[in-house]
Amino acid sequence: MALRNIVQDGDPILKKVCRPVTKFDDRLATLLDDMQETLIDAGGLGLAGPQVGIMRRVFICLDERDVPEGQDSFENPKFIEFINAEILEMSEETETIYEGCLSFPGRNGAITRPLRVKARAFDREGNPFEIEAEGMLARCICHENNHLDGITILDLADHFYEDEYEDEE
Ligand code: NI
Repeated sequence: MALRNIVQDGDPILKKVCRPVTKFDDRLATLLDDMQETLIDAGGLGLAGPQVGIMRRVFICLDERDVPEGQDSFENPKFIEFINAEILEMSEETETIYEGCLSFPGRNGAITRPLRVKARAFDREGNPFEIEAEGMLARCICHENNHLDGITILDLADHFYEDEYEDEE
């Protein structure tokens, strides 16, 4: 596995629409392994293909659903890999919270997202699956899927909370 560079604010890659994955091969597996390592190294919750310069419809989310209370989800991390994902349903109920992005460090935008989503995608072997998610995972799925259409927190945030100088509690 290898760390990949995370594309930063201002790079036109972040505004492009990605193409579907057509080959479920070793190259894809390597990409996903690298994305996992890169995400953990960066301490993020999710990462999308274009953020590592790959213009394909692939993203990963940290799966914190089974992490016991008080345990660090980065200690023994689990991921959900989404290839050619499609969001099938979004709850009408929404939540607005400050949301960050590894491509825009230090910026947190107030973004309204559905509380629950249902999505369909393929795993790295090309097997289709469906998932119903809520809370942070639902938010992560929406955030990362937006990246594949060139949509970022800059496009969605109602306003930004600048926390650069915030004191650590
Ligand atoms: Ni992001």
